[in-house]
Amino acid sequence: MEHSISCSQFQQRVLKWFDKEGRKDLPWQHDITAYRVWVSEIMLQQTQVNTVIPYFIRFMQKFPQVHDLANAKLDEVLHLWTGLGYYARARNLHRTANIIVENYGGEFPKDVDQLSQLPGIGRSTAGAILSISHDTYAPILDGNVKRVLSRVFAIPGWPGDLSVAKKLWDIAEHYTPHKRSRDYTQAMMDLGAMVCTRTKPSCSICPLQKFCQAYEMKNPQEYPGKKPRKSLPIRVKQFLILIHKNKVLLENRPQSGIWGGLWSLPECDLNTQPKEYCEQLFSCKIASTENLPVTRHTFSHFHLDINPVILTVQRWPAQVKENDPYCWIDTDAPIELGLSAPVKQLLQQLNGNLRTPL
Ligand code: ADE
Ligand code: SF4
Repeated sequence: MEHSISCSQFQQRVLKWFDKEGRKDLPWQHDITAYRVWVSEIMLQQTQVNTVIPYFIRFMQKFPQVHDLANAKLDEVLHLWTGLGYYARARNLHRTANIIVENYGGEFPKDVDQLSQLPGIGRSTAGAILSISHDTYAPILDGNVKRVLSRVFAIPGWPGDLSVAKKLWDIAEHYTPHKRSRDYTQAMMDLGAMVCTRTKPSCSICPLQKFCQAYEMKNPQEYPGKKPRKSLPIRVKQFLILIHKNKVLLENRPQSGIWGGLWSLPECDLNTQPKEYCEQLFSCKIASTENLPVTRHTFSHFHLDINPVILTVQRWPAQVKENDPYCWIDTDAPIELGLSAPVKQLLQQLNGNLRTPL
């Protein structure tokens, strides 16, 4: 692999691919004006090209110029947007049209910073509008480009992090050409959408394969890095180990939720008194209780801190209701029930302890 890809090599490969494979007949690629490109870019921010096309055509029939949009009622704009979703985009479009008419004499500014001050236009969208409508140097870094660049240059980390975004912007600025900026912008978007896709990139037909660090390391899917997960919430439960005549009481869990259908232990909250709770629930008499050390079990969405409590049963009512989701199991016989992982552990531990003569 050639690590030091030059700008011109990079650009040549991207543009040559664009000439052969890029999209050149999208409605906003004809009769190019800043207004048309702006509207298309806003529509394309969260929506697929094929969905956008009919909306874009209707929008341009109704509002051919920025003045038409500025003079329209917001309701008319929202009506044309129905089905596209993310309606803040339509409201911002309407606001921005008015700003363009009132403050800019109906002309879109040709400066990235001014453009990206307008409602709904971020730095990347500003770059796309400028490079596509005027064919001037203006780098973009939308989702597609982030994916391509983070893979080619193996940039670790989540692009939502300022430091990662900074690296990617630096690369985008460095590799964006000063000539054919329009085609390059469209090429990078198309490359991301058509070749370097999120889950199954088609590296075998990719013009950047020869220089792609992720391809060489065979791990394109690891780029861009994912948003770091928030720390998980902690739930705390007491697990009630009722022991009676060398047997432990198990409870069958509801089908839905964690350990659905498995056998576990009765539970109560931390601020519930286990002895009183059990005596009430089971109409039994508890002789003594003993707390065991807390253990943590981690699920995808939360930590469960289990406070196990041994409750030694003195008297158990003779009749147990038929349909109750409970059963007594021998602590020393092999257990042939589906058990939740922590309960399995607890029972093994318990088994050892019960065997130990006091
Ligand atoms: N997504 C955002 N802008 C786009 C464009 N100009 N062409 C295709 N997909 C896009
Ligand atoms: Fe993406 Fe594969 Fe091309 Fe690298 S070689 S840019 S991973 S498609």
